[in-house]
Amino acid sequence: METTLKKDINIALEEATAFCKDKGLEIVFAHQISKTQLQVISERTKKLPAMYHASVGMLQDRLKNGCYLLMKDGDIYGHIFAHRHVIEKHSVYERSSLWVHKHYRNHNLGLLLMDFLTKRFTKDFLISIAQEPTVHNNNELLGMKYITLKDLSPILIETLEKIGKLRDELKYKYYVNPYFESKIKQFNKILNKTNNI
Ligand SMILES: CC(C)(COP(=O)(O)OP(=O)(O)OC[C@H]1O[C@@H](n2cnc3c(N)ncnc32)[C@H](O)[C@@H]1OP(=O)(O)O)[C@@H](O)C(=O)NCCC(=O)NCCS
Repeated sequence: METTLKKDINIALEEATAFCKDKGLEIVFAHQISKTQLQVISERTKKLPAMYHASVGMLQDRLKNGCYLLMKDGDIYGHIFAHRHVIEKHSVYERSSLWVHKHYRNHNLGLLLMDFLTKRFTKDFLISIAQEPTVHNNNELLGMKYITLKDLSPILIETLEKIGKLRDELKYKYYVNPYFESKIKQFNKILNKTNNI
């Protein structure tokens, strides 16, 4: 099963890369985006119901972690950011603000952007919280592991809850990268100990 999944993602990513080449699109890692472009992205996150609203300030903050942009002729046709949650000096990154221009959808570019970001954070705690089965499937393809709320320290849940989408296992599923999964028990222990839980 795993071999089939891996094979499928490799093909999907290869096709996405070939599509980009054909259309003159480029994936760029960036720490800076002009204020005007940030305003456009922020407006987009506000308008689209599937996206969580990110203000320009929030996006500027996320830019410190870097983001991946899908570029063509200086224009942005897609993006993905990483939202850093700080829990007792530990960082947990959440993939956020994924968007691909309508013109280029359904060519696995969303998956390609997710893949770039996931690979960048292999040595960090990375989490994905989402509703759609497509995203869950993508997470599995990307090597992320499904976890339940009981696997997470209440301290971590409280921090993540500030973005307003936790404690709802009917609606959302939680995926963490293998690094996070490997350290989760240790991390919970540290958090619970410092908080007398
Ligand atoms: C979601 C989105 C980035 C997918 O881009 P894409 O390049 O078409 O993605 P892929 O080709 O890799 O995947 C295509 C399929 O996976 C779905 N998908 C992939 N990532 C997704 C995500 N994070 N959330 C919801 N659906 C997603 C797409 O909707 C599409 O499903 P469909 O064929 O049933 O319509 C794009 O549709 C978009 O920008 N939508 C508006 C913003 C948005 O919903 N962002 C996600 C917030 S979590």
